[in-house]
Amino acid sequence: MPDAATPRPPYHAEGPRVALRPFRYADAAEFTARARESADLHRPWLFPPDTPAAYASYARALIEDPARFGHLVCERDGGGIAGFVNVNNIVRGSFQCGALGYGAFAHAAGRGLMSEALALVVRHAFGPLALHRLEANIQPGNGASLALVRRAGFRREGYSPAMLHVDGAWRDHERWAITAEMPLPPAGDPVR
Ligand SMILES: CC(C)(COP(=O)(O)OP(=O)(O)OC[C@H]1O[C@@H](n2cnc3c(N)ncnc32)[C@H](O)[C@@H]1OP(=O)(O)O)[C@@H](O)C(=O)NCCC(=O)NCCS
Repeated sequence: MPDAATPRPPYHAEGPRVALRPFRYADAAEFTARARESADLHRPWLFPPDTPAAYASYARALIEDPARFGHLVCERDGGGIAGFVNVNNIVRGSFQCGALGYGAFAHAAGRGLMSEALALVVRHAFGPLALHRLEANIQPGNGASLALVRRAGFRREGYSPAMLHVDGAWRDHERWAITAEMPLPPAGDPVR
């Protein structure tokens, strides 16, 4: 699926099986094809862009808005996109906080790749991004997402009724977070 003719940007974090790189406009075809393949996995929790037009505006925000940092999760074996972890709503000053949005693509789900990626994202957030806190707001029925953040060392801070508008209605969310003082999630041996 990756276009061999398009030079790849360098990875900014690497684990044993996945590496992270920024979003590019040139990723539209691969990303949207994977999103369309993954609708059954993502619904009703997540609605990533699955058309070129939707991808263009989604990627523009992640590329240009300093309040966001998008990580494409790539398999080191072959470089294909396995999923994404975006740090959104970055607030600086005395908060130094970002809110996570993430999804695996179906062909790559359930193999531990997102757990490895989230550990890299937490390290990147508390290192180069200079954040102090990452939040994940998750619907109570989303067992896979709750398991992912629990495994990564996030703690449950609370429960907010009607917190976010998802799939046509205001949905209750559990609020999970990790701060820089907490133990980092387990990471594989760094490659470099
Ligand atoms: C939430 C989501 C990103 C999790 O992705 P995932 O691919 O299932 O994550 P992982 O593969 O890292 O972890 C899943 C399981 O694989 C296991 N696993 C399999 N092989 C593994 C390996 N080699 N190493 C480590 N873990 C492995 C993990 O232990 C975990 O099992 P468990 O939950 O029973 O403990 C994915 O389910 C998804 O995209 N859901 C829809 C979108 C969504 O809900 N987004 C978040 C909205 S809040």
